[in-house]
Amino acid sequence: MAYVVTDACVRCKYTDCVDVCPVDCFHEGPNFLAIDPDECIDCTLCVAECPVSAIFAEDDVPAEQKVYIQLNAELSKQWPTISQSKAPLPDHADWAEQSGKLPHLQRE
Ligand code: SF4
Ligand code: F3S
Repeated sequence: MAYVVTDACVRCKYTDCVDVCPVDCFHEGPNFLAIDPDECIDCTLCVAECPVSAIFAEDDVPAEQKVYIQLNAELSKQWPTISQSKAPLPDHADWAEQSGKLPHLQRE
């Protein structure tokens, strides 16, 4: 199993999660982070850090967000590692409460 970043992260990217990951398995895209399922050790530490509760255990990802399991696996292999938090995206507050943000996920 692994942990998975889901819809709530899109266009917010708070990055609080990366500071606690003991194995640096977060990878950064333009407006979303992805966890490499081959690197994640299921420590659970990142879950509580996300202000918008975007991170789930793979088995607990909500049904309508299952697509993010494959997206984390795929995008984490393409994007660079991020291991230190930074400022969230400028319009994060406008997007934090929104759902169905998949069409806004930028791959590059
Ligand atoms: Fe990193 Fe642990 Fe979160 Fe996996 S569960 S991404 S190892 S902090
Ligand atoms: Fe995204 Fe939450 Fe981390 S918004 S960058 S999963 S703290």
